[in-house]
Amino acid sequence: MTAQATKVPIIEAEQLHTYYGASHILHGISLSVAPGETLSLMGRNGMGKTTLLRSLLGLTPPRRGTVKIYGREMTGAATQKIIRQGIAFVPEDRGIFPNLTVRENLIMAARSGLDGRKDWDLTRVLETFPRLAQRLSHMGNHLSGGEQQMLTVGRALMTNPELLILDEATEGLAPLIRKEIWSVVRTIKQSGIATVIVDKDIKALLELADRNLIISKGRIVYQGSSAELAADPEIHARYLGV
Ligand SMILES: Nc1ncnc2c1ncn2[C@@H]1O[C@H](COP(=O)(O)OP(=O)(O)OP(=O)(O)O)[C@@H](O)[C@H]1O
Ligand SMILES: [Mg+2]
Repeated sequence: MTAQATKVPIIEAEQLHTYYGASHILHGISLSVAPGETLSLMGRNGMGKTTLLRSLLGLTPPRRGTVKIYGREMTGAATQKIIRQGIAFVPEDRGIFPNLTVRENLIMAARSGLDGRKDWDLTRVLETFPRLAQRLSHMGNHLSGGEQQMLTVGRALMTNPELLILDEATEGLAPLIRKEIWSVVRTIKQSGIATVIVDKDIKALLELADRNLIISKGRIVYQGSSAELAADPEIHARYLGV
């Protein structure tokens, strides 16, 4: 039986404490992501969202606590090893190769997923991002910011992930491009891929997420469905308002 069928969480983190040097940033965060689930991580600037993602992925390993991937403890394992378990990460600073073409960037990332799944290939990614199809022979550094972001997400999909983690994927993009990215995230959700999304666009997150977590000062201070959170203006004002 596959892990998907048994509904073992893709990621299960318990009581993470993460530091940068002497600064204690995460204070006992626990979370789990089920197969196919869309989870949002909200919170004001500097509250620890990126640090949490980095802790899960072994980029900044937690000093205390555990991270299990499909039930297997992998706390602080090499990032390469963690993402081989079907996880793709789109970081705040896009990770494309500037001196390779769009096609080369996509092909380089290609691999089959867990159980040999190959749902996402060049054709499907280009159908999903028609703009990239028009730019196939352009170099990465000749793309607009929006196109670079699409290429980053396209590269992530080429790995056939079970879970896609997006850190501020729409940050700094023009409204029309943002809309396009959100529409792709919706397609990704419908295709059954789980997502963890960090973004400043609360409205877009509430439309997509099955569950929302709010982080404040390195702690999870709220958890709820989109309907619950949308109906709670006090939580908005306390943790999300500017
Ligand atoms: N490399 C680092 N060294 C030291 N402190 C850091 C480092 N990266 C982040 N921090 C600090 O850790 C805290 C959490 O930062 P983090 O980037 O996780 O927040 P965030 O919620 O992702 O914020 P943003 O919304 O601005 O992306 C902040 O106080 C930040 O200044
Ligand atoms: Mg961040």
